[in-house]
Amino acid sequence: MAEPRTSIHGLWSSRWAFILAATGAAVGLGNIWKFPYIAGQNGGGAFVIVYLICIAFIGLPLLMTEIMIGRMGRQNPSNSMGTLAVEANVSRHWHWVGLITVITGALILSYYSVIAGWAVDYVFQSAAGHFTDGTVAHINGLFTSLISSPTRLLFWHSCVMGATMGVVAFGVEKGLERAVKYLFPTMLVLLLLIVAYSIDTGYFSQGVNFLFHMNFHALKPSSVLVAMGHAFFTLSIATGSIMMYGAYLPAEASIPKAAAFIVIADTLVALVAGLAIFPIVFAHGLQPGAGPGLIFKSLPIAFGHMPFGEVFATIFFVMLVFAAFTSAISLLEPSVAWLIENMHMTRFKATGIAGGIIWFVGLGTVFSFNIGDKITFLGKNFFDSLDYLTANIMLPLSGLLIALFAAWRLKKATTLNELNFKNGIYYKSWRIVLGVVAPIGISLVFLGAIGLL
Ligand code: TRP
Repeated sequence: MAEPRTSIHGLWSSRWAFILAATGAAVGLGNIWKFPYIAGQNGGGAFVIVYLICIAFIGLPLLMTEIMIGRMGRQNPSNSMGTLAVEANVSRHWHWVGLITVITGALILSYYSVIAGWAVDYVFQSAAGHFTDGTVAHINGLFTSLISSPTRLLFWHSCVMGATMGVVAFGVEKGLERAVKYLFPTMLVLLLLIVAYSIDTGYFSQGVNFLFHMNFHALKPSSVLVAMGHAFFTLSIATGSIMMYGAYLPAEASIPKAAAFIVIADTLVALVAGLAIFPIVFAHGLQPGAGPGLIFKSLPIAFGHMPFGEVFATIFFVMLVFAAFTSAISLLEPSVAWLIENMHMTRFKATGIAGGIIWFVGLGTVFSFNIGDKITFLGKNFFDSLDYLTANIMLPLSGLLIALFAAWRLKKATTLNELNFKNGIYYKSWRIVLGVVAPIGISLVFLGAIGLL
């Protein structure tokens, strides 16, 4: 192999800096907001098992692969894949796959920002004590009045996008990284606190049962696709970010170990969030299938009945905003890096253009819950359609192509050296999973869900 490439943007200071940044990107609204509500909509237990299987057999190997491609290419995802393809004497067209991941990230950000805006609104509502002793009807009403107000949603969406663009335009400050170090553990502690409240409701076993009881006949092919799509979404796979972060990873760090850490941390946060939420849902007669508003309707009830609930609720929603914000930054970065590298723009201009377009697309989500709720595509509103398109179609398909590329197009000697597994059997399993098991699995799930099987 030629001399190792270097990244023009520098490297992480250590393996742990990378792990922290990547875990920060992985843990976000997906874990605390999305996982519980889709588990609820898809019947719980069996869905969770499918999700865990997808995480272990598709998510983990793909996460390793993306970090590996990023580190070998040391550029934005599109250029990295193109360069590696040329070096392996295969078509440069593989760079399109990298470009699709960048576009998917931008589309996800357009609605991610709107939902993060809900969390910002809830910070102020908690601080003002709106949840104190709230009844189910009262708390439901607060949520409905938020999402039915286009101006409130637009205001918060614009604030979140503005802040994200601010950070990306001026480069990620050291302060943010330092803040994540403290905020992330605090978030975990607060989540455990809500679990304690949940146990206290007396409905904890119902929650556990809902999450882990395997009721396989409730599982539709479409639920399997949702579980798989979420495995991609929650690990930030196929959105460009992980490849981008991998590009800054020091050469000596072990990729399999870093990937395993990220996967375990991310999965634990999602399961703990589920254990925190479902007992509250059952204790107060809420519907587990309530949809995107689930945590905004259930958690305030718990907080409203705890001593110092306003304080805890405020801190909790601040954490949620922070988890979302660190993710939003890394969703914007690949588009910006692409514009800088390929359109030769300044970082400032690139951020303005990418952020402006994403903000505009976000308006579709803002209006999906109110004045535009009658505008539907195949029966889904704009937000649901965009979520379906990105999480359930674009993520799995680009994941499939990334897997095929790494297993069948890159040279074996190169990937063997880069992953540096201690034991040959791990490397063999990685290649078989990536080259055969994952592609067949993804294709079957996909075809089954769109009704072609
Ligand atoms: N993983 C994030 C979450 O669970 C969402 C996400 C998807 C993401 N792709 C990303 C975050 C890329 C940052 C970068 O909420």
